[in-house]
Amino acid sequence: MSRKPVVVVGSINMDLVAHASLIPRPGQTLIGDDFTTTPGGKGANQAVAVARLGYPVELIGMVGEDVFGDTLLRHLQAKGVNTDGIGHVSGPSGVALIVVAADGNNTIVVVPGANSKVTPAVVEAQAGRIRDAGMVLCQLEVPLETVLRASEIAREAGVPFVLDPAPAAGLPEAIWKNLSWITPNESEAAYYLQGNGHEPDAIARQFLGRGVGGVVLKRGSEGAFIAQSKELARWVPPFSVKAVDTVGAGDAFNGGFAVALLEGQEAAEAARFAAATAAVSVTRAGAQEAMATRDEVEELLRAARSKG
Ligand code: RIB
Repeated sequence: MSRKPVVVVGSINMDLVAHASLIPRPGQTLIGDDFTTTPGGKGANQAVAVARLGYPVELIGMVGEDVFGDTLLRHLQAKGVNTDGIGHVSGPSGVALIVVAADGNNTIVVVPGANSKVTPAVVEAQAGRIRDAGMVLCQLEVPLETVLRASEIAREAGVPFVLDPAPAAGLPEAIWKNLSWITPNESEAAYYLQGNGHEPDAIARQFLGRGVGGVVLKRGSEGAFIAQSKELARWVPPFSVKAVDTVGAGDAFNGGFAVALLEGQEAAEAARFAAATAAVSVTRAGAQEAMATRDEVEELLRAARSKG
Protein backbone atom coordinates (compact mmCIF):
# COMPACT_ATOMS: atom_id res chain seq x y z
CA MET A 1 0.00 0.00 0.00
CA SER A 2 1.42 3.38 -0.93
CA ARG A 3 1.93 5.66 2.02
CA LYS A 4 1.30 9.39 1.80
CA PRO A 5 4.51 11.16 2.81
CA VAL A 6 5.09 13.34 5.80
CA VAL A 7 5.73 16.84 4.47
CA VAL A 8 7.89 19.13 6.60
CA VAL A 9 7.85 22.88 6.02
CA GLY A 10 10.85 24.18 7.90
CA SER A 11 14.39 25.26 8.47
CA ILE A 12 17.66 23.83 7.27
CA ASN A 13 20.74 24.91 9.24
CA MET A 14 24.38 24.12 9.57
CA ASP A 15 25.04 23.57 13.27
CA LEU A 16 28.36 24.93 14.55
CA VAL A 17 28.72 23.04 17.79
CA ALA A 18 31.20 23.64 20.61
CA HIS A 19 31.39 21.03 23.36
CA ALA A 20 32.46 22.42 26.73
CA SER A 21 32.27 21.37 30.35
CA LEU A 22 29.64 24.05 31.05
CA ILE A 23 27.44 26.52 29.24
CA PRO A 24 29.21 29.88 29.73
CA ARG A 25 27.56 32.61 31.77
CA PRO A 26 27.21 36.09 30.20
CA GLY A 27 30.68 37.63 30.06
CA GLN A 28 32.47 34.33 30.70
CA THR A 29 35.04 32.80 28.32
CA LEU A 30 35.53 29.04 28.45
CA ILE A 31 37.99 26.74 26.74
CA GLY A 32 35.98 24.09 24.90
CA ASP A 33 36.78 20.41 24.34
CA ASP A 34 35.63 19.87 20.78
CA PHE A 35 34.08 21.58 17.74
CA THR A 36 31.94 20.07 14.98
CA THR A 37 30.07 21.34 11.95
CA THR A 38 27.02 19.17 11.45
CA PRO A 39 23.67 19.47 9.62
CA GLY A 40 20.71 20.66 11.68
CA GLY A 41 17.69 22.96 11.62
CA LYS A 42 14.43 21.95 13.25
CA GLY A 43 12.70 21.31 9.93
CA ALA A 44 15.53 19.27 8.46
CA ASN A 45 16.01 17.36 11.71
CA GLN A 46 12.35 16.35 11.82
CA ALA A 47 12.50 15.26 8.19
CA VAL A 48 15.59 13.11 8.86
CA ALA A 49 13.94 11.65 11.97
CA VAL A 50 11.03 10.49 9.82
CA ALA A 51 13.30 9.13 7.07
CA ARG A 52 15.44 7.18 9.56
CA LEU A 53 12.29 5.44 10.76
CA GLY A 54 11.72 4.29 7.18
CA TYR A 55 8.76 6.56 6.38
CA PRO A 56 8.56 8.65 3.18
CA VAL A 57 9.21 12.34 3.80
CA GLU A 58 9.54 15.54 1.78
CA LEU A 59 11.02 18.82 2.96
CA ILE A 60 9.97 22.29 1.78
CA GLY A 61 12.64 24.86 2.59
CA MET A 62 15.58 26.92 1.36
CA VAL A 63 19.35 26.77 1.44
CA GLY A 64 21.75 29.57 0.59
CA GLU A 65 24.25 29.79 -2.21
CA ASP A 66 27.17 29.56 0.20
CA VAL A 67 29.62 26.89 1.33
CA PHE A 68 26.94 25.11 3.35
CA GLY A 69 24.00 25.04 0.92
CA ASP A 70 24.97 22.08 -1.26
CA THR A 71 26.40 20.10 1.65
CA LEU A 72 23.11 20.45 3.53
CA LEU A 73 21.12 19.40 0.49
CA ARG A 74 23.31 16.38 -0.28
CA HIS A 75 23.19 15.29 3.32
CA LEU A 76 19.38 15.32 3.35
CA GLN A 77 19.31 13.30 0.15
CA ALA A 78 21.75 10.77 1.59
CA LYS A 79 19.44 10.36 4.59
CA GLY A 80 16.49 9.57 2.32
CA VAL A 81 14.63 12.90 2.42
CA ASN A 82 12.92 14.02 -0.81
CA THR A 83 14.46 17.46 -1.46
CA ASP A 84 12.49 18.44 -4.59
CA GLY A 85 10.72 21.13 -2.56
CA ILE A 86 13.97 22.80 -1.46
CA GLY A 87 15.14 25.93 -3.29
CA HIS A 88 18.39 27.91 -3.39
CA VAL A 89 18.54 31.63 -2.63
CA SER A 90 21.45 34.03 -2.78
CA GLY A 91 23.13 34.74 0.55
CA PRO A 92 23.97 32.51 3.48
CA SER A 93 22.27 29.30 4.59
CA GLY A 94 20.80 29.15 8.08
CA VAL A 95 23.30 28.50 10.84
CA ALA A 96 22.98 27.63 14.51
CA LEU A 97 25.67 28.39 17.07
CA ILE A 98 25.38 25.72 19.72
CA VAL A 99 27.14 25.00 23.00
CA VAL A 100 26.73 21.49 24.40
CA ALA A 101 27.70 21.03 28.04
CA ALA A 102 29.08 17.84 29.60
CA ASP A 103 25.64 16.97 31.05
CA GLY A 104 24.13 17.00 27.52
CA ASN A 105 22.27 20.30 27.94
CA ASN A 106 22.67 23.00 25.31
CA THR A 107 22.09 26.60 24.28
CA ILE A 108 21.38 27.59 20.67
CA VAL A 109 21.44 30.84 18.71
CA VAL A 110 19.94 30.51 15.22
CA VAL A 111 20.68 32.97 12.41
CA PRO A 112 17.97 32.17 9.83
CA GLY A 113 19.71 33.20 6.58
CA ALA A 114 17.96 31.38 3.71
CA ASN A 115 15.22 30.12 6.05
CA SER A 116 13.83 33.65 6.18
CA LYS A 117 13.16 33.34 2.42
CA VAL A 118 10.71 30.47 2.91
CA THR A 119 7.83 32.84 2.22
CA PRO A 120 4.10 32.14 1.87
CA ALA A 121 4.68 32.29 -1.92
CA VAL A 122 7.14 29.39 -1.61
CA VAL A 123 4.52 27.36 0.22
CA GLU A 124 1.86 28.32 -2.36
CA ALA A 125 4.15 27.04 -5.10
CA GLN A 126 4.48 23.74 -3.20
CA ALA A 127 0.83 23.54 -2.13
CA GLY A 128 0.29 20.31 -4.06
CA ARG A 129 2.80 18.53 -1.81
CA ILE A 130 0.94 19.72 1.28
CA ARG A 131 -2.44 18.63 -0.10
CA ASP A 132 -1.05 15.17 -0.95
CA ALA A 133 0.67 14.70 2.41
CA GLY A 134 -0.28 12.19 5.09
CA MET A 135 0.68 14.81 7.68
CA VAL A 136 2.42 18.20 7.71
CA LEU A 137 5.03 19.16 10.30
CA CYS A 138 6.10 22.76 10.96
CA GLN A 139 8.26 24.62 13.47
CA LEU A 140 8.96 28.33 13.89
CA GLU A 141 12.35 28.82 12.24
CA VAL A 142 10.69 29.99 9.02
CA PRO A 143 8.47 33.12 8.86
CA LEU A 144 5.25 32.95 10.87
CA GLU A 145 3.09 33.99 7.92
CA THR A 146 4.48 30.98 6.04
CA VAL A 147 3.57 28.63 8.88
CA LEU A 148 0.08 30.12 8.95
CA ARG A 149 -0.36 29.67 5.19
CA ALA A 150 0.90 26.07 5.33
CA SER A 151 -1.57 25.34 8.14
CA GLU A 152 -4.45 26.83 6.12
CA ILE A 153 -3.62 24.76 3.03
CA ALA A 154 -3.38 21.62 5.17
CA ARG A 155 -6.65 22.33 6.95
CA GLU A 156 -8.52 23.00 3.69
CA ALA A 157 -7.22 19.69 2.33
CA GLY A 158 -8.04 17.77 5.53
CA VAL A 159 -4.36 16.97 6.18
CA PRO A 160 -3.33 16.80 9.86
CA PHE A 161 -0.98 19.63 10.81
CA VAL A 162 1.48 19.32 13.72
CA LEU A 163 3.15 22.48 15.02
CA ASP A 164 6.29 22.36 17.10
CA PRO A 165 6.10 25.96 18.38
CA ALA A 166 9.86 26.35 18.67
CA PRO A 167 11.56 28.70 19.07
CA ALA A 168 8.69 30.41 20.88
CA ALA A 169 7.22 33.34 18.94
CA GLY A 170 3.91 35.22 18.96
CA LEU A 171 1.51 33.12 16.91
CA PRO A 172 -1.32 34.66 14.87
CA GLU A 173 -4.71 34.05 16.49
CA ALA A 174 -5.97 32.47 13.27
CA ILE A 175 -3.55 29.54 13.49
CA TRP A 176 -4.84 27.75 16.58
CA LYS A 177 -7.86 26.12 14.96
CA ASN A 178 -5.62 24.75 12.18
CA LEU A 179 -3.45 22.77 14.57
CA SER A 180 -4.18 19.07 14.87
CA TRP A 181 -1.40 18.89 17.46
CA ILE A 182 0.87 21.35 19.22
CA THR A 183 4.03 20.02 20.90
CA PRO A 184 5.67 22.66 23.12
CA ASN A 185 8.40 21.99 25.66
CA GLU A 186 8.14 23.49 29.13
CA SER A 187 9.58 26.92 28.37
CA GLU A 188 7.59 27.26 25.15
CA ALA A 189 4.34 26.37 26.93
CA ALA A 190 5.10 29.01 29.57
CA TYR A 191 5.72 31.56 26.82
CA TYR A 192 2.44 30.89 25.00
CA LEU A 193 0.37 30.86 28.17
CA GLN A 194 2.28 33.78 29.72
CA GLY A 195 3.11 31.65 32.72
CA ASN A 196 -0.56 30.82 33.44
CA GLY A 197 -0.82 27.32 34.85
CA HIS A 198 1.99 25.10 36.04
CA GLU A 199 0.35 21.69 36.15
CA PRO A 200 0.43 19.87 32.78
CA ASP A 201 -3.30 19.30 32.98
CA ALA A 202 -4.04 23.01 33.31
CA ILE A 203 -1.52 23.92 30.61
CA ALA A 204 -2.95 21.39 28.17
CA ARG A 205 -6.51 22.58 28.84
CA GLN A 206 -5.56 26.15 27.94
CA PHE A 207 -4.14 25.05 24.59
CA LEU A 208 -7.21 22.92 23.93
CA GLY A 209 -9.37 25.91 24.80
CA ARG A 210 -7.77 27.83 21.93
CA GLY A 211 -9.06 25.24 19.49
CA VAL A 212 -6.14 22.88 18.89
CA GLY A 213 -6.94 19.21 18.38
CA GLY A 214 -4.38 17.79 20.80
CA VAL A 215 -1.43 18.79 22.96
CA VAL A 216 1.82 17.03 23.71
CA LEU A 217 3.87 18.71 26.42
CA LYS A 218 7.45 17.57 25.92
CA ARG A 219 9.13 17.32 29.32
CA GLY A 220 12.53 15.84 28.43
CA SER A 221 13.72 13.46 31.12
CA GLU A 222 10.25 13.54 32.78
CA GLY A 223 8.58 12.13 29.67
CA ALA A 224 5.59 13.79 28.02
CA PHE A 225 2.01 14.73 28.87
CA ILE A 226 -0.57 14.18 26.16
CA ALA A 227 -4.13 15.52 26.06
CA GLN A 228 -6.93 15.61 23.52
CA SER A 229 -9.69 16.43 25.99
CA LYS A 230 -10.14 16.58 29.76
CA GLU A 231 -10.73 12.82 29.86
CA LEU A 232 -8.13 11.83 27.28
CA ALA A 233 -5.07 13.09 29.14
CA ARG A 234 -2.14 11.12 30.51
CA TRP A 235 1.57 11.02 31.25
CA VAL A 236 3.86 9.12 28.93
CA PRO A 237 6.82 7.92 30.98
CA PRO A 238 10.41 8.66 29.94
CA PHE A 239 13.08 6.13 29.00
CA SER A 240 16.16 5.92 31.10
CA VAL A 241 19.21 6.47 28.87
CA LYS A 242 22.55 8.20 29.27
CA ALA A 243 22.22 11.56 27.50
CA VAL A 244 25.34 12.86 25.81
CA ASP A 245 23.73 15.49 23.55
CA THR A 246 20.12 16.64 23.61
CA VAL A 247 20.31 18.80 20.47
CA GLY A 248 17.49 17.70 18.16
CA ALA A 249 15.77 15.52 20.79
CA GLY A 250 12.52 17.48 20.42
CA ASP A 251 12.76 17.09 16.66
CA ALA A 252 13.30 13.35 17.01
CA PHE A 253 10.18 13.24 19.17
CA ASN A 254 8.06 14.99 16.54
CA GLY A 255 9.36 12.78 13.74
CA GLY A 256 8.57 9.66 15.76
CA PHE A 257 5.14 10.98 16.76
CA ALA A 258 4.18 11.67 13.14
CA VAL A 259 5.27 8.24 11.93
CA ALA A 260 3.49 6.39 14.74
CA LEU A 261 0.25 8.34 14.23
CA LEU A 262 0.35 7.71 10.49
CA GLU A 263 0.91 4.03 11.15
CA GLY A 264 -2.33 3.97 13.13
CA GLN A 265 -1.10 4.01 16.71
CA GLU A 266 -3.44 5.74 19.12
CA ALA A 267 -2.13 9.06 20.43
CA ALA A 268 -0.63 8.01 23.79
CA GLU A 269 1.03 4.99 22.21
CA ALA A 270 2.38 7.25 19.44
CA ALA A 271 3.80 9.60 22.08
CA ARG A 272 5.51 6.64 23.74
CA PHE A 273 7.05 5.67 20.37
CA ALA A 274 8.08 9.33 19.98
CA ALA A 275 9.66 9.40 23.44
CA ALA A 276 11.68 6.29 22.53
CA THR A 277 12.78 7.92 19.26
CA ALA A 278 13.98 10.96 21.22
CA ALA A 279 15.64 8.84 23.89
CA VAL A 280 17.78 7.00 21.33
CA SER A 281 18.77 10.32 19.74
CA VAL A 282 20.21 11.80 22.95
CA THR A 283 22.65 8.91 23.34
CA ARG A 284 24.67 10.19 20.36
CA ALA A 285 26.20 13.51 19.35
CA GLY A 286 24.67 15.73 16.69
CA ALA A 287 21.11 16.38 15.56
CA GLN A 288 20.49 14.52 12.29
CA GLU A 289 23.45 12.20 12.84
CA ALA A 290 21.88 11.01 16.07
CA MET A 291 18.40 10.15 14.75
CA ALA A 292 17.13 6.69 15.64
CA THR A 293 16.45 3.81 13.29
CA ARG A 294 13.22 1.82 13.57
CA ASP A 295 15.13 -1.17 15.00
CA GLU A 296 16.68 0.95 17.73
CA VAL A 297 13.31 2.40 18.74
CA GLU A 298 11.65 -1.01 18.80
CA GLU A 299 14.51 -2.46 20.82
CA LEU A 300 14.19 0.30 23.43
CA LEU A 301 10.41 -0.21 23.63
CA ARG A 302 10.90 -3.98 23.97
CA ALA A 303 13.50 -3.56 26.72
CA ALA A 304 11.20 -1.18 28.63
CA ARG A 305 8.27 -3.64 28.32
CA SER A 306 10.33 -6.54 29.58
CA LYS A 307 11.31 -4.52 32.67
CA GLY A 308 7.58 -4.05 33.25
O1 RIB B 1 16.18 21.58 17.49
C1 RIB B 1 17.57 21.58 17.31
C2 RIB B 1 17.94 22.49 16.19
O2 RIB B 1 17.66 23.82 16.57
C3 RIB B 1 19.39 22.50 15.82
O3 RIB B 1 19.74 21.52 14.89
C4 RIB B 1 19.62 23.92 15.33
O4 RIB B 1 19.89 24.02 13.98
C5 RIB B 1 18.37 24.68 15.72
O5 RIB B 1 17.58 24.88 14.64
